[in-house]
Amino acid sequence: MEVIILPTPAEVGRVAAAKIASVVAHKPSAVIGLATGSSPQGIYTDLHRRVTAGEISFTRTRGFALDEYVGIPLEHSESYASVIARDVVEPLGFDPSRVRVPDGRATDIEFAAEEYDAAIRAAGGIDVQILGIGANGHIGFNEPTSSFASRTRIKTLAPSTREANARFFDSPDQVPTHCLTQGLGTILEAEQLVLVAQSSTKAAAIAAAVEGPLSSFVPGSALQLHEHVTVIVDEAAAGLQLADHYRYTYVNKPEWQRFS
Ligand code: F6R
Repeated sequence: MEVIILPTPAEVGRVAAAKIASVVAHKPSAVIGLATGSSPQGIYTDLHRRVTAGEISFTRTRGFALDEYVGIPLEHSESYASVIARDVVEPLGFDPSRVRVPDGRATDIEFAAEEYDAAIRAAGGIDVQILGIGANGHIGFNEPTSSFASRTRIKTLAPSTREANARFFDSPDQVPTHCLTQGLGTILEAEQLVLVAQSSTKAAAIAAAVEGPLSSFVPGSALQLHEHVTVIVDEAAAGLQLADHYRYTYVNKPEWQRFS
């Protein structure tokens, strides 16, 4: 696992975007796993800058969202289908037909979940998965005690997750209680994982995921099982025992391994 500590949230977004851009430059038809929420916003902003500057194009790139709420209409401004369309597809110029979001409105939710995993496999798998992390250690919406082997499925959102996401809704009780999320097993099948976190509210979760024991109680610790993980955090989120080692490693990274 590579851990990169940067001074500001904007730098986190810029360096993570450079990583995504390097994947797409190498493979224009790459499959990207798309996270929502606040954490990846800086990535999307920097990728938009690169698109506008003509440095990169997403017209052939495919996308699979990490998760979707169950129980709100598709056209709701906070459905992840709406968020992905607004924050990713439109500004970055993805072909909408190449981007999928789990169908949280399906009448047969189990079938929708299985079909989503099958669609990811049929696309050749995810080349690079963007991730944020919840203060309770969730990745995707795999809440504490989610199985490391889990596949895309319906999950109940933890009360603390509903509380954290209430800022996107008019009132806390409007936050759905359920979601469809890629499982930890699904996430671990991606070729590369890029997790970003900013602010002190994420420091404990980052420390537990990166340096703590492997435990389903901290779903983010599943990252330790993956071969190609880049964790990019700002100083405020970096309450890490080996922080100096990560800084040293980054400064001394061989030129040929650098992506920004
Ligand atoms: C979003 C997702 C979640 C968020 C996490 C952090 O698609 O799967 O794991 O990444 O809840 O949310 P923010 O970034 O809003 O703090």
